[in-house]
Amino acid sequence: MIDIGGGDSRLVDHLLARGLRCLTVLDVSHTALARARARVAPLAHHVSWIEADVTADTWPVPPVDIWHDRAVFHFLIEADDRAQYAARVRQAVMLGGSVIIGTFALDGPERCSGLPVRRYDAEGLCAELGDGFTLEETLTDAHRTPAGTVQSFLYVRLVRQR
Ligand SMILES: C[S@@+](CC[C@H](N)C(=O)[O-])C[C@H]1O[C@@H](n2cnc3c(N)ncnc32)[C@H](O)[C@@H]1O
Repeated sequence: MIDIGGGDSRLVDHLLARGLRCLTVLDVSHTALARARARVAPLAHHVSWIEADVTADTWPVPPVDIWHDRAVFHFLIEADDRAQYAARVRQAVMLGGSVIIGTFALDGPERCSGLPVRRYDAEGLCAELGDGFTLEETLTDAHRTPAGTVQSFLYVRLVRQR
């Protein structure tokens, strides 16, 4: 399982606490990864920590059965970056594996942390990944930020068929 942009997320903490050991966290931020590593010590050695840009051309990620991304894809406002992201998904996710992506929904914010974002419905989000995936689940969530504002999120889970 890989968590994209997971450096500042507590997902890895929860998965380690449940006994999962085959985990990868990828983030472009060295600082975010270092913080997470320190936080989950002494279990940090069970995780592969990869400092990389998910839109980069070369990307040393082993095949995974689950791809998880909350709140990274919606920052990719350039079509080329989204195409690169889709190529990385195809490169990393095994046949039969799941792709879970959470983005701002159509009624979500137009900017986040001062940056522009794209907003999605399930159809639009699936289309970004191209053919070969089936949509298995969708979920909407009103996410309350630490500052108390509510952000409308959409989650999809797709399964790679080919
Ligand atoms: C809004 S935070 C989301 C953190 C976490 N996934 C969560 O839901 O709490 C976005 C994270 O993605 C990372 N990030 C942003 N762009 C990225 C990229 N192109 N490749 C890899 N990581 C990226 C940031 O460094 C940051 O840690």
